[in-house]
Amino acid sequence: MARVVVTGGSGKLGRAVVRDLAAHGWDVVNVDTAPPPADAPGSWTRVDLTDLGQVTEALTGIDDRYAGVDAVVHLAAIPAPGLRPSGATFANNVVATHHVFDAARRAGIRRVVWASSETLLGLPFDVPPPYVPVDEEYPVRPESTYSMGKAVEEEMARHFARWQPGATIVGLRFSNVMDVEDYARFPSFEDDPASRRWNLWGYIDARDGAQAVRRALTADVTGFEAFVIANADTVMTTPNERLLAEHFPDVLVRGDVTGTGTLLSIEKARRLLGYEPEHSWRDHVS
Ligand SMILES: NC(=O)c1ccc[n+]([C@@H]2O[C@H](COP(=O)([O-])OP(=O)(O)OC[C@H]3O[C@@H](n4cnc5c(N)ncnc54)[C@H](O)[C@@H]3O)[C@@H](O)[C@H]2O)c1
Repeated sequence: MARVVVTGGSGKLGRAVVRDLAAHGWDVVNVDTAPPPADAPGSWTRVDLTDLGQVTEALTGIDDRYAGVDAVVHLAAIPAPGLRPSGATFANNVVATHHVFDAARRAGIRRVVWASSETLLGLPFDVPPPYVPVDEEYPVRPESTYSMGKAVEEEMARHFARWQPGATIVGLRFSNVMDVEDYARFPSFEDDPASRRWNLWGYIDARDGAQAVRRALTADVTGFEAFVIANADTVMTTPNERLLAEHFPDVLVRGDVTGTGTLLSIEKARRLLGYEPEHSWRDHVS
């Protein structure tokens, strides 16, 4: 059984990832300052990821719990701007990610998958995107300190991958993470489309986010790669043509924007990871 350390496994996305990886045969170790739910599979150790000593131990083995780690999924972070003062968000997230990359390299771990963010695409799009659907092909445009931290992490990943030839470091630029309970409020977005303009009406079901993580752990990619990870549809029933005409009238349309298909392109993830969303909010709300 291959062993994977999941950081932030007690969080919203992490809980789905821990469940999915355990269900697919991984021996899952969750390291997080917060405890997991009582029914979570795998083990949990309280680790502060801003402490390199603790991270190094977590990625090699902790006492009688385990020894040796095959892969790392790094999700722990303060997950949005505004939850903490920006300097505290930057200090926690960027330092933790540095320590995870550094400890993984020292431990000889050759596969790291971590949570980057859709915010790098230029959210909240006060400056409109260069084209739609947005994808990984234009330079990152962080507009907050939280997002700038993710930009720094992607830059660090580029260099850690260069320092460890043959290793794979995958950044998943997740859209806004949703659990099934969140879908009850989706129909209300129809009354106020502007309220979801900030991320081009995108979302990611936590279970599909977990699928993307699982596929990234074994996909045939080497070095640093970033992927936009969203669901196949928008949060709206209003078709994209109407939303774009009203909210982004001057933005170049460069691909398929018909119907309610995602405006956050997942074509690269489909092509290189074999990612294909299996869920939609439409399955849960009538
Ligand atoms: N939630 C979203 O909409 C969203 C969107 C894009 C990207 N992301 C990214 O996905 C990841 C997971 O987000 P989430 O929504 O599950 O967040 P969450 O807050 O629900 O979970 C994050 C977990 O990380 C832990 N953590 C934070 N700092 C830590 C530290 N220094 N040491 C140990 N544990 C620490 C927290 O205790 C928490 O359990 C984050 O990296 C976030 O930036 C989230």
